[in-house]
Amino acid sequence: MASETLLARITDYASRPDPYPLYAELRAAGPVVRQADDSYLIGTYHEVAALLHDPRMSVDPRTRGEVTHKPPFLRLDDPEHHRLRTLAMRPFGPPHSPGRVDAMRDEIDRLTKDLVASFEAGRQIDVVDDFAYPLPVTVICRLLGVPHEDEPLFRAWSDALVTAADVRPGQDTTEADKAGDQARIEMGGYLVGLAEQRRGSPGDDMLSAFVNEPDPELRLTQEELAETAVLLLIAGHETTVNLITNGVLTLLRQPEHLDHLRRDPGLLPRAVEELLRYEPPVHMRERIPHSDIDVAGTTIPEGASVVLALASGSRDPMRFHEPDRFDPTRPDNQHLGFGSGIHLCYGGPLARIEAQAALGALLPHLGAARLVQDPPPYRQNAMLRGPRHLPVQL
Ligand code: HEM
Repeated sequence: MASETLLARITDYASRPDPYPLYAELRAAGPVVRQADDSYLIGTYHEVAALLHDPRMSVDPRTRGEVTHKPPFLRLDDPEHHRLRTLAMRPFGPPHSPGRVDAMRDEIDRLTKDLVASFEAGRQIDVVDDFAYPLPVTVICRLLGVPHEDEPLFRAWSDALVTAADVRPGQDTTEADKAGDQARIEMGGYLVGLAEQRRGSPGDDMLSAFVNEPDPELRLTQEELAETAVLLLIAGHETTVNLITNGVLTLLRQPEHLDHLRRDPGLLPRAVEELLRYEPPVHMRERIPHSDIDVAGTTIPEGASVVLALASGSRDPMRFHEPDRFDPTRPDNQHLGFGSGIHLCYGGPLARIEAQAALGALLPHLGAARLVQDPPPYRQNAMLRGPRHLPVQL
């Protein structure tokens, strides 16, 4: 129970390039570290994993009276969560469908090849804007049925929502929260509008499936449709862009692994898995206990804000051998990159396909490449952490 300010130091923008020494401090002070604002911070693998599976932990912000509208299912508890998750998971594969996502593999390969086609030697690129961002945006737009030309419109909403969804210790409602609320309402309205255009004349996209659901038990209300579509559009790209960018950054910092992968691309799936452990896009998630709970001898009171540092758990030496070493051949790599328990990310298989295809297509261009700026400039967000730009000289 040492530092009262660890969370403030972790979320401080100056820590963005390298929060890992602070996570080591957190684990040494833990497992449970109470903060000055009465929130609790946990960063040891076993405690984080156990709490992700603990039915006494709520994700619903209404538990603390923080919001009044019904949030998306990422922030709902069962049984409400289960109903919506099941519906929104259908296109992501068996047992609900032949797996629309699996069928996108070829399309994803084609998209990555098109993106790298203009990357001739000597050119400077921004890995984020020229590569890592356009790929997942195009993919999630296709899946949902959002016109790709509308990207400039939802980029601003998505930015505002991601900014608002950060962990910010000891702060009440801020300007960021208000902007986030406004963006959520506008983006939801826009997506409901798109879905309505397909009522009665469905395409093969998710918005069509939602609005034409024949089973009245499963049909979404307008509010649920808006929240679910916003969640999918944002979750579908804001994280994958960071996985791909963190991958390029890690490989350019450690050229021996770049060479290894260039010689043996069969290792890519394991390298992507190791990236999800070593440089994960999602660093923290919040939970709220329904009742007082005991964690490793500390009582966390009902209603407290509990921040689970997934990225710290994935670097816990009690769980992983030499956790600060990037090792694409690492055995037994049960990282927390996609969370765990009932909210486990079901976009994982899609994100893996995208990251493997992206890094695979880029590898041949990275032979003599160098980072123009290291560390690169990061986005503000501490929870969804990743570079804003990654300039690379090919
Ligand atoms: C590298 C990419 C990705 C990472 C690292 C990631 C990470 C995560 C994590 C950690 C959670 C759990 C949140 C919690 O427990 O509070 C989550 C949930 C979720 N993710 Fe992902 N995600 C990625 C890509 C995607 C994609 C491509 C989609 C697809 C559309 C997606 C959709 C979702 C949804 C809908 C949830 C909520 C699940 C639920 O509450 O039951 N994610 N993700």
